[in-house]
Amino acid sequence: MNDMHDIIEEIKLRNDIVDIISSYIQIKSAGLNYKALCPFHSEKTPSFSISTQKQMYKCFGCGEGGDVINFVMKMENIDFMEALEFLAQRASIEIKKGKISEESKKDINKKQNLYQINLDAARYFFKSMHSLDNSGYNYLKNRGLDDKIIKYFGLGYAKNDWNDLNNYLLQKGYDQQSLIDSGLVIQTKNKKNYINRFKNRVMFPIFDQRGKVIAFGGRVLDDSLPKYLNSSETMLFNKRKNLYGLNFAKKNIKNDTLIIVEGYMDVISLFQYGIKNVVASLGTALTIEQAKLIKKYANKVIVAYDNDEAGINATLKAVEILNGVSLNIKILNLGKSKDPDEYIRAEGLNKFSILLKNSIPLIQFKINILKQKYNLNNDQDRLLFTKNIASVIKNIKSPIEVEYYVNKISKETDISVDAINSEIYGKYYKKDEHKKEFKKKIEEIKIEKNGIEIAEKQIIHIFLNNIKYRNDILMKLDIDDFILKESKEILNYIIKSNELDIITIDKMKKIGISEEYIQDISDINIDSNINLNEIIKTLQKNSLKRKRNYLLKRQHELQRKKENDKNIEASEVDRELLDIAMEIIRLEKEMKNIL
Ligand code: GTP
Ligand code: MN
Repeated sequence: MNDMHDIIEEIKLRNDIVDIISSYIQIKSAGLNYKALCPFHSEKTPSFSISTQKQMYKCFGCGEGGDVINFVMKMENIDFMEALEFLAQRASIEIKKGKISEESKKDINKKQNLYQINLDAARYFFKSMHSLDNSGYNYLKNRGLDDKIIKYFGLGYAKNDWNDLNNYLLQKGYDQQSLIDSGLVIQTKNKKNYINRFKNRVMFPIFDQRGKVIAFGGRVLDDSLPKYLNSSETMLFNKRKNLYGLNFAKKNIKNDTLIIVEGYMDVISLFQYGIKNVVASLGTALTIEQAKLIKKYANKVIVAYDNDEAGINATLKAVEILNGVSLNIKILNLGKSKDPDEYIRAEGLNKFSILLKNSIPLIQFKINILKQKYNLNNDQDRLLFTKNIASVIKNIKSPIEVEYYVNKISKETDISVDAINSEIYGKYYKKDEHKKEFKKKIEEIKIEKNGIEIAEKQIIHIFLNNIKYRNDILMKLDIDDFILKESKEILNYIIKSNELDIITIDKMKKIGISEEYIQDISDINIDSNINLNEIIKTLQKNSLKRKRNYLLKRQHELQRKKENDKNIEASEVDRELLDIAMEIIRLEKEMKNIL
């Protein structure tokens, strides 16, 4: 094994290219990748792209590209070894004068060895499945898996034998201590013998994000306990920081969405049917580290946990965690099926896809749980239900959403809107308060419009005259963020023509900007303590507000339509209303983030 090669691998593994580049320049997410204005040549529109999966960057404008080490070399103007040292230090790997410390070296070698042991074990288990004792293979076949998917996920079998794997790996040259450290072999209580951790189980290799085997899960072939057994935690394997299937799912993100399930079999079964954007949290409560991993690859998540009490509780907990990293969350309703694996095998791909499409927001999920708990024909139950539902709704931030759910619950339960509202707001509740709130929000925008136009003209003024701020402005604002037609035209012109100079009045006239607008722009006084960032934020916030305002109007339009036109398909309108309500929440969250 090449020492230097391992060091480089380790350093790259511990320095995510997105983290490094974003510490130098501002980057914007664009699907799975990121884009930015190239730091290596002057440009107006971003042609610099970063791939999270390949851990590479590439500029389509100037051709510059490479890995995280190349980036640091270029950026810091240092040579290869210096860049290695720089990144090693950042990842707390000690190297000095081109030499890695003895301690770090040991650490890295140990890890490399553990990766190799896991890989050899995975191959061994895979082979064992087709040996004379093929009960593992039969088990997987009976559960509906085909050969292709068994191979794809590297599934295997740990024979009904206490020693075979340990002996095989010793024979391959690994020492006994490393095998214990790998979590695959254990020492017996009397300390005299070493035995396999896994025996007579089907084996699921657990991969890290990059597809390296870091551990195993093993399932019994019958009803004995424990049903699943995992490798112990090792230098490579930390359950809390890993999601099963992410190495595959990250290449198959659809609609900016990841589906999260509980178990190995759910992931594999869905995958076999063609639903490939799935990961499993493997039975433990979802952790914040796992939520962050999800957020790295998608903005939306569908929670598809088991449909039993444990699953429902796990869902409620998971949702809290997912909320913490600003993911757009929906929940899948499996109806009578136990889990996604069972459902898709019984009902097929098409029905599962419909289920995905019909997945519901958290509040609706909570309402459904409460509705099942109470008998709404019984007066006392209705009262309890109303009280409970009110406490759920109190937590909703947006009055728009509150109104939406109050109306919906009222329709579903025949409890009046007023009754629900007084439960939420207490005796201070006034009828039609919500409509006033709505009107206020729209008025607010009208009043602000004047101030916004001034801010916009200030930005355009700076944009035209101070070339060094242009990149910054272009990076942070889109054409949609501007209101005035002339401002949009100027931006469009600069982006299209790649204009690098100051824009004179003559030039503005040439591209057809009105006299009045030009006058306004020239009249603007920019004093020295003007805060460019503040103005940019004002425009960003206002732009989000306008989008939200548009949705508010659409929401009202739909609600009116629903009330007046009995012929329209209510469920379709409901779905649009729900999506709008959630998008409004997201926009309001983003608005808060700008503050
Ligand atoms: P199948 O019965 O094989 O379909 O499993 P399942 O995924 O439906 O099982 P279940 O819903 O009971 O568990 C979901 C996940 O929790 C599993 O995939 C395991 O990762 C984990 N799990 C379940 N039982 C155990 C156990 O006894 N020990 C450990 N460590 N993990 C378990
Ligand atoms: Mn199952």
